[in-house]
Amino acid sequence: MPGFRRVPLRLQVPRHPPDPPSPSPRPGPLTPLPRQVANALALLRGRAGKTVDLGSGDGRLVLEAHKQGLRPALGYELNPWLLCLANYRAWKAGCHGKVSFLKKDLWKVNLSDCHNVIVFLAPSVKPPLATKLLAELPDDARVVAGRFPFPCWTPSSSLGQGLEQVWAYDMKEVRREAQGSAQESQV
Ligand SMILES: C[S@@+](CC[C@H](N)C(=O)[O-])C[C@H]1O[C@@H](n2cnc3c(N)ncnc32)[C@H](O)[C@@H]1O
Repeated sequence: MPGFRRVPLRLQVPRHPPDPPSPSPRPGPLTPLPRQVANALALLRGRAGKTVDLGSGDGRLVLEAHKQGLRPALGYELNPWLLCLANYRAWKAGCHGKVSFLKKDLWKVNLSDCHNVIVFLAPSVKPPLATKLLAELPDDARVVAGRFPFPCWTPSSSLGQGLEQVWAYDMKEVRREAQGSAQESQV
């Protein structure tokens, strides 16, 4: 004979205290960038025009440059695996087709239409690269170097310390200084 169970009319739901705040931020759009990248991009804040990373590696600087509104943003890189990785990262970040990673030798590309140039390269390439940049970049271009400064140029500004340090060079100032020292050596 089926019976009836008494069902409490006022069901009580146990109340849990709210979750404690997580100890570290979850990865996401607000997670801080590596300081080195953030410093480089900070030195290009407010600027416009074609932005290139010479030796773009996994594409992190190009992607952040694009997100900061620097358009077009592109990277030159020779390593095919890094080119694949950079393109994958661009796709994952929703930037597919909005940034470019080109398999080109940085020594063979003409930089005369570049307004922002990012250079995270070994110290040994800085002197020949300085000659190339002086010959090709427009006067209003800015070069941002990471890790190692250009030994013969005076930076307009610098940010960070140690491995995270970056230096900005304004080509107009760099040229003025170069012309000044050329005239001094003639006297
Ligand atoms: C130190 S990594 C910097 C990568 C990237 N800019 C970053 O900071 O994440 C230098 C990169 O330059 C690339 N590279 C070296 N010589 C190059 C050349 N002649 N043309 C294009 N890329 C070059 C290397 O393959 C390497 O990925």
